[in-house]
Amino acid sequence: MSMTRKLLAVAATGAVLLSLAACSSDSGSTGGGDAAEGGTECNVGISMPTRSLERWINDGEQLQKALKDADCTVDLQYADNKTDQQISQIQNQIAGGAKILVIAAIDGEVLAPVLEEAKKQDATVIAYDRLINGTENVDYYATFDNYKVGQLQGEFIADQLDLAGGAGPFNLEPFAGSPDDNNAKFFFSGAWDVLLPYVEKGQLVVPSGKAPKSNDEWASIGIQGWASDKAQSEMDNRLSSFYSGDQKVDVVLSPNDSLAIGIIASLRSAGYAPGEDYPIISGQDADKANVKAILDGEQSMTVWKDTRTLGERVFTMIESIVAGEEVEVNDEETYDNGEKVVPSFLLDPEVVVKDDVQSKLVDSGFVKAGDVGL
Ligand code: GAL
Repeated sequence: MSMTRKLLAVAATGAVLLSLAACSSDSGSTGGGDAAEGGTECNVGISMPTRSLERWINDGEQLQKALKDADCTVDLQYADNKTDQQISQIQNQIAGGAKILVIAAIDGEVLAPVLEEAKKQDATVIAYDRLINGTENVDYYATFDNYKVGQLQGEFIADQLDLAGGAGPFNLEPFAGSPDDNNAKFFFSGAWDVLLPYVEKGQLVVPSGKAPKSNDEWASIGIQGWASDKAQSEMDNRLSSFYSGDQKVDVVLSPNDSLAIGIIASLRSAGYAPGEDYPIISGQDADKANVKAILDGEQSMTVWKDTRTLGERVFTMIESIVAGEEVEVNDEETYDNGEKVVPSFLLDPEVVVKDDVQSKLVDSGFVKAGDVGL
């Protein structure tokens, strides 16, 4: 069985665990052990941003399980979206002997000092899903094609409204992600590169006026911490301030599902209900509550990122690092973190609409039918 198929077996079932143990331990002891020639010990510190968003719980636990099943030493931490907490957790992992750090940064701009410490311990650093900026000391980046996530949202909206056919005007309310999240600018740029031309042509109108003139202004409509309640109150304000009489929202650009769920709640309390006049609402992540909203007609689509494949990709990177082998990447251009272009592996996101839920999400085991009301 090839290494990749064995790894998939490991990631999927945790069965055949020889590869990493064989690479890193010649003493037969559980977890870690001495490094193979040119390799490193399989002692991994995983740092996730928060438990308050569904995907990070899945991401952390599935990678932890795969590594534990592969006989590695693993420490998994969540940082409640607090940057100082994340920094001290990473410091503890370094002090605890972690040789590989897998970090999904809360704020990509504040980790340079702690990664300096990691380098002093010869630790290898993998940026997980979100890039870490302003430091030489990040070795690899594994993520989904973040620009494409936004592009898929923008194209979905353009198709649904037949904008290329000249239709309009439609009332659009755009949102962007957390200003401290490096991904958020890529999501927004991908969508806005599709939608801004139609705003400029007047086919899309933004009654709240919250339409960035360029991608660089994305943070002006960013929602801190990707918080659902903040998105809900922002939408409440826009509806009460800019939508009087029979003026209605036709489309909302929501960069992810946690914001979409807040926006949906705001629309619902303003009397919007699924049906002909209900706005198009985008999303990302295929969170259970949002898959349910899609089935109920309260959300139009989500961009699905099968985080299991991200976990498997990072597992493969760790396997190469432990064995002292070259780490496979597929993008060495896009992600310049200000100090270097970080060698990256980009995975493909895909659109999920109502008719895809069963085949893409349930049949693949990403969600259980019962969790989404099926
Ligand atoms: C982004 C991530 C998205 C979404 C968001 C909020 O960085 O890529 O999948 O979850 O954070 O956590």
